[in-house]
Amino acid sequence: MKDKHLTTNQGVPVTDNQNSQTIGERGPVLLQDVQFIEKMAHFDRERIPERVVHAKGAGAHGYFQVYKSMKPYTKAKFLQEPKKKTPVFVRFSTVVGGRGSADTVRDPRGFAVKFYTEDGNYDLVGNNLPVFFIRDAIKFPDMVHAFKGAPDTNIPSASSAHNRFWDFISLTPESTHMITWLFSDRGTPKSYRMQEGFGVNTYVWVNAEGNAVYVKYHWKPKLGVQNLDRHEATQLVGTDPDYLTRDLRDAIARGEEVEYELNVQLMDIADELKQDFDPLDPTKTWPEDKFSLMPVGKMVLNRNPDNFFAEVEQAAFCPASIVPGIEFSADKLLQGRTFSYADTQRHRLGPNYLELPINRSLVDVNNNQRDGPMQIGQFSGPVNYEPASLAGGSPSEAPEESKPRVYRLEGEVTRRKISKTNDFAQAGERYRSLSKMDQEHLIDNIIADLMHIDKPIKQRVIENLTKADPELGQAVTAGLKL
Ligand code: HEM
Repeated sequence: MKDKHLTTNQGVPVTDNQNSQTIGERGPVLLQDVQFIEKMAHFDRERIPERVVHAKGAGAHGYFQVYKSMKPYTKAKFLQEPKKKTPVFVRFSTVVGGRGSADTVRDPRGFAVKFYTEDGNYDLVGNNLPVFFIRDAIKFPDMVHAFKGAPDTNIPSASSAHNRFWDFISLTPESTHMITWLFSDRGTPKSYRMQEGFGVNTYVWVNAEGNAVYVKYHWKPKLGVQNLDRHEATQLVGTDPDYLTRDLRDAIARGEEVEYELNVQLMDIADELKQDFDPLDPTKTWPEDKFSLMPVGKMVLNRNPDNFFAEVEQAAFCPASIVPGIEFSADKLLQGRTFSYADTQRHRLGPNYLELPINRSLVDVNNNQRDGPMQIGQFSGPVNYEPASLAGGSPSEAPEESKPRVYRLEGEVTRRKISKTNDFAQAGERYRSLSKMDQEHLIDNIIADLMHIDKPIKQRVIENLTKADPELGQAVTAGLKL
């Protein structure tokens, strides 16, 4: 490589990077030391706002490949052709802790995948647990406020063992199912390579004939699911707070391919009201004996980022980033998510965040959304509007085949809870499906947290757990010596 010499940001040679410019050798420093001022002013602005949730994360590059064409169900181009490899970028994360927090604290883990497809970017922004705490996005800010540091003390910053968390949970009965996942050892995965991923929300697949079907996504790790127990996880917080980040990076650096299989569950839209639960309720799973998992393809992660800030910190995933063949369901949590992510990213990264290399689509972006802070596009010519006859009328609207489905909706305008809430049934089923050891760990993990909590809150939690499964409620009551 040709020898490079230091320059300022204007490209001017820097001949001394050790000493400020001073009067005499002992100072003071001169205001005209523009080299110093430029360097310090840039440093002063090096941090961008951390993500409002999922602030700590690790990323990797790789590819996705379908096993067989999904053409009968979706026209999404990256799902048509088994020979095609679609590049992906993945970011795994914790949710509650801030940017410098420990990896092995009990928490859901984010599992966000960006597919760089020929029809633009598709983001599948999931978690490692199949359900969520709430079912309406309007509760998300309350939920996150209750989980993050207290407004008066900022304690705790990355843990659930506090009154505010359990206060919110106990008053949100639909969270009981999520608690049976989060407080099992799935809340402390052993490795990002050994966890499942779930889209959680229900999406819609639409084929070229316009036929639509509901779809739920599942990622299965090739290495199987492995978790830490509470004691191992707690110890690692002290001895290796970046344990999961390091594990992923080291495995890829050693040349090991990190692999997951994508599976989907499909449901006819005509069957949605026939279920004993609401299929668009993200606090529910779809029973796998009725809606079997269909293998779709594999994702292989095989390349570490070169620069954490550019690729991982500035990555912007968004459930609203869909491609033709994939659409939203009416799931009220998903509907809210479609607004929230790009909105926060415009604040966190700036309005031109999709021009950053990690977020850029591999296909050309053609539209008239221009200018704004940090615009790097070099546009030429007089046309920045559409329709236009100047400049040959280009870019013009894309062909019909990319159009979303047309469908009819009717109903009264209201603010109302869904009627099939079934807040406890699946929580109980989940508890009873666990092995004896996993049941004991779930109970023990809940008790270890609840013992620090005020009595009335504890009692409300126990009421909910008892409604899910009396044995679970009793075991927690006994453990707390209530
Ligand atoms: C109404 C519910 C939700 C809202 C409003 C919401 C909002 C947000 C916001 C604002 C961010 C930060 C984005 C950024 O700064 O780049 C975020 C990150 C994230 N959310 Fe959600 N979220 C919700 C539910 C969920 C659910 C159900 C899942 C999983 C299925 C999920 C998975 C993620 C992941 C994985 C990230 C991190 C993406 C990354 O690695 O950059 N969120 N969420």
